[in-house]
Amino acid sequence: MSKLAILGGEPIRTEDYPKWPVFDQRDIDAVTRTIQSGRWGGFPYPGPNTAAFAEKFTELQGGNFAVPMLNGTITMEVALRASGIGWGDEVIVPAYTFQATAYAPMAAGAIPVIVDIDPDTYCIDPEKVKAAITDKTRAVIVVHIAAQMTDMDAIMAIAKKHDLVVIEDAAHAHGAQWRRMGSGTIGDFGSFSLQSAKVITTGEGGVLLCKDELMAERAASIIDCGRPKDGEGKQFTMGVNYRWSELQAALGLVALERFPEQFTERAAMADYLEESLSDVSGIQMLKRDLRLTRRSLYRYVIKMDPAFFHCTNDLFCEALSAEGISVDTGYPGMHRYELFQPGLSKLAVPSAFPEYFDFENMSFPVAERASEQESVWMGESIFRSGEEGVDDLVKGIQKLVENRDTLAEVAKTRTH
Ligand SMILES: Cc1ncc(COP(=O)(O)O)c(C=O)c1O
Repeated sequence: MSKLAILGGEPIRTEDYPKWPVFDQRDIDAVTRTIQSGRWGGFPYPGPNTAAFAEKFTELQGGNFAVPMLNGTITMEVALRASGIGWGDEVIVPAYTFQATAYAPMAAGAIPVIVDIDPDTYCIDPEKVKAAITDKTRAVIVVHIAAQMTDMDAIMAIAKKHDLVVIEDAAHAHGAQWRRMGSGTIGDFGSFSLQSAKVITTGEGGVLLCKDELMAERAASIIDCGRPKDGEGKQFTMGVNYRWSELQAALGLVALERFPEQFTERAAMADYLEESLSDVSGIQMLKRDLRLTRRSLYRYVIKMDPAFFHCTNDLFCEALSAEGISVDTGYPGMHRYELFQPGLSKLAVPSAFPEYFDFENMSFPVAERASEQESVWMGESIFRSGEEGVDDLVKGIQKLVENRDTLAEVAKTRTH
């Protein structure tokens, strides 16, 4: 049995996994052409690169009206504002996601109501959504994470019954499909991030897909200082400059050219990983719902069994990372983010809204178990490293399986 790298043994992998983002001469040429054109900024909105990107992004996701903007947080704020959602309204969000999903309603003046996730998919639990609906609920933001998609059939049925706006936070789900419908095209809005780590990136950036053309006009107006976009020059809105630059859009056009091949490669390697992991003890994969007809690999998540490994996911991730396979425990529960800790942030003052913002006493058992006990997150680069890179991941996990008694010893020293 070989010694764990965390205790000074030889790591399984010494070579780095491929870096992200990737670029080639096409990116340099596209940015150079834009620089030479003199049209760098986003005004008047949309510029030619931005308009071309919007059209191509719509084709990729399979419909609706695309409004590119600064990032994948304000996309959700703008969707809420375009829908007239704000002061005093409640917006349901999942307990397990990046904090941006809950920040967006607050930025629009609404109140995020956090609900727990489904243990099989780590996406929002539709039953918990139902239970959280009050007469103030106006919208639900679902997040497609962990190479999964939310059960959109259930969410759309609930939304129809209660007249809710549905926003799909698809920051992790470019190119994914639910029953052959593109992520972000099923709800009223789809929000995409193009930030550096994302599988389509322009450094920073975001795209809002809108089902309704009027909403797309309003969104475009809000991000362009309120300028009318209704074609007749009448509909001014309250807006600000959230425009995207033409330089970013130039990178986006090349990223879209490159995306299909990368998508296919990652998906094939994820299938290969699942086959290879299927008989490794102590590891469980999330559910593969047949309605998820195409999955997008941004962050892939497995569950490790704390009882089997005699430790929780933090030590497991530290030990596997020491073997040269970089993994982490992913997101904290939403109520644990610093954004919501009263001592650290004035955004959430319990005395102001004790019925909503009592973060210390909130409990989301499924999200807490995922983040504090069992989830292991890995980056997309593992799926761009060929079978050999995936094999190293599996070998790393097998090494932890063999050394699980040693992990128990290390865990004990940590608790004393
Ligand atoms: C689930 C989720 N939503 C929203 C965002 C926000 O995107 P951006 O960083 O482009 O604002 C992120 C970014 O990481 C995310 O992971």
